[in-house]
Parts: sequence; structure tokens; C-alpha cells
Amino acid sequence: MSTYRERFPVFEKVAYLNSCSQGALADSVRASMESYMDGMDEFGSLWATWAGKQEEVRGLLARLFGTTPGEVAVTASASAAIDSIASAMFLGDGPRKVVTTSLEFPTAGQIWHAQEARGVSVVHVPAGPDHRLSIDDLAAAIDDDTALVSVTHVCYRNGAMTDLSAVIELAHSRGVRVLVDAYQSGGALPIDFAALGADFLVGGCLKYMLGMPGVGFGLVTADACAELTPTSTGWFAARDVFAMDIYGYDPASDARRFEAGTPVVPSLYAVAAGLELLLEVGVEGAWEVSSGLHDQLRAGVADLGGTVVTPSGAGEHGPMIAVATTDEQALVAAMGEDGVVVSSRDGNIRISPHFYNNAADIEAALSSMRRHRHLLA
Ligand SMILES: Cc1ncc(COP(=O)(O)O)c(C=O)c1O
Repeated sequence: MSTYRERFPVFEKVAYLNSCSQGALADSVRASMESYMDGMDEFGSLWATWAGKQEEVRGLLARLFGTTPGEVAVTASASAAIDSIASAMFLGDGPRKVVTTSLEFPTAGQIWHAQEARGVSVVHVPAGPDHRLSIDDLAAAIDDDTALVSVTHVCYRNGAMTDLSAVIELAHSRGVRVLVDAYQSGGALPIDFAALGADFLVGGCLKYMLGMPGVGFGLVTADACAELTPTSTGWFAARDVFAMDIYGYDPASDARRFEAGTPVVPSLYAVAAGLELLLEVGVEGAWEVSSGLHDQLRAGVADLGGTVVTPSGAGEHGPMIAVATTDEQALVAAMGEDGVVVSSRDGNIRISPHFYNNAADIEAALSSMRRHRHLLA
């Protein structure tokens, strides 16, 4: 992996450990975005090439998640994917309850609560003080009126990981669909959509997938595509985009029906190059690297007398490790001055290694934390 690290110029300047916010910029991602600009200088508009980029990204996402391009909607954000899925639900007389958790990113919670105007009720199952979600509590919240269980795979605040297999098995045994928000895990660890069995999996490409803001995705099973017709839509969701029909609504039969308007084309260039690189590296290898760095980090924080709030068991945490602070912003700023880039949420700093990080980055983070020990809780 050390040769890949050289492809990310940011490491010449800082120990970058903030992939949970934005992945580091690879040389090939920069070059790909520049090729978009070069094309505009040379040819003006390039509609056919741009549409091809959208399909290239769809194919790469399908490869990354072990599914088919027909089950991939390429959207402008994770929010856009959830919103389009939500718009296709709760239209008839069927069940109207969404069971979700206290670990969700705001966008999921807000979109489900927005459906209250359409008669939906939303129940949040609270995680325990150790941030673990109880399957029994989830089971108790699901009733005959439940249409959907919506869970985050990895919590953006504390890095806790949901046992998706248990959630999906439980929900499906009650005839309830499952939506997984995989934004904090996609690209960092292996996820096989077909094997997982979720009905929907959403995320975006700017973190562990090495891309830029402006490209999200919604994976939707062929069964769900056949049963759900979005009411939030746009011409790029049409069966024939260039039919230019204004007299009817005829969405694509596959997951493209969950798309909307003109794609964020410059970001597609970045994402295509980012995904190519990630697939070349291999997500399994990437997860092995970050797992080793997690061990080093946990041991170092324990030596400092600090507190890692992220659960530690196998399958209980994602790529980001959260460390408790007395003042999260002060610690992020102090570490930044020491040349270590991390971020914070909910009283914790978030340290999120990826395949391009190494033991020296973790050592830099630990020695900075040692210097600012008074800010660790
Ligand atoms: C877990 C999770 N879900 C959703 C989002 C929001 O994604 P978007 O801004 O693409 O809608 C984020 C963004 O950080 C996230 O971490």
C-alpha cells in the first residue's frame, strides 16, 4: 500500500486521518477532473461523453457492491437517493410506520419525519450507552403497521457498526423492507449487496470512495424497483431520457427510476477515477490496513489514559474510531496545528484511517494527543 500513498500529495504536508469527512485526493482523480475541463476547452459541450461517465460510474458502483448496474441509481447525494425512495413509499393504504434508530445521520431522520405529512409515523430505537443497538429493542418496535426499517451501517458520531444481517433477517421475517445508510462504510470495508439482502443501500462517493461531493447512490433490488414508482423524479429517470416527453411519466424499469435531473458531471469524472483506483487497491486489503491501524490507535489511546468510545468487537465498528474529549473543537484545532487532520462530532474526535494511511500517521496523531492530553476525556 505504500506505493499507493505516493499518489496522494496531501501526505507531503499533513497526516490526513479524516476520510470519514472527505477522502484524500489521488493524482488520478485530479487528472480526471482536469480532463473534464480540457474537454470543455476543446469541444465545448460533450453530452455523449458525459452520459457515458454516468454509466461508467454506475458500472463501477455495481462492481464495488457486488450487484448489477440495473440495481444502481446514481444520484447527486445520499439524501437524494433516500428522498426518491421515500417518495415511492406510503402512497396507498399499506403500512405507514418507519422504525429507525438514534444512530442515524440527520438526513435519514429528517426525510422520514418529513413523511409525517403523508401520515407516516417514525419510531427511533435508542442505542445503549455503549452505542450498541439491541436487536430485541428493534424487534419490539416493529409491528403490523411497519413499512420500513432504516438503519445506518456505521454511526457518523461514534463509529459503532450495526449488525446488518441480524436487522435484515428480523425485518424480512416480519415482511418489512430494510434501508441501509452505508455512507460511513462504503469503500472502506467489503459490502456485497446481493449477499446482504437489504432492499435499499444508500451512500455517497466522497469519503472512502475517493471522489468528490456531487455523486451519491441508491442500490435498489430488482424486486423493489418493480414495486415502487418514485413521485420525486426528473428527466434522467425516464425510460428514454431523450424522448423529451412532457405528456406523461414513464420511468425506467430499473434503479435508474430513482434518479432525477442532469448529473453533477465534473464529480462523475472524479468518482470514476476514484472508484477505479479503489477497485485496483481492493476493499478487502484496504480494510486490513485500517484494521491494523485501529489496533495501534486503540492501544495508544489506552496508554494515554484516554477513552475510545467506539465499540471494539469484530463487526462492531467501522473505519472511524472516536475518542472522547473535553472540548472537541479545541482538540481538532490543536491537532491541526500539529499537522494532524481529524474531525469531530458529539464530543468526540473522529480518526478515520484508510488504505493510504500508515503507522507514522497514527503515531503523529498519538503524539499530538499526548501533547494536548488535557483535552482528552
Ligand atoms: C452516514 C451518513 N449518511 C448520510 C450523509 C449525508 O449524505 P449526503 O450529503 O450525500 O446526502 C452523510 C454525510 O456525511 C453520512 O455520513
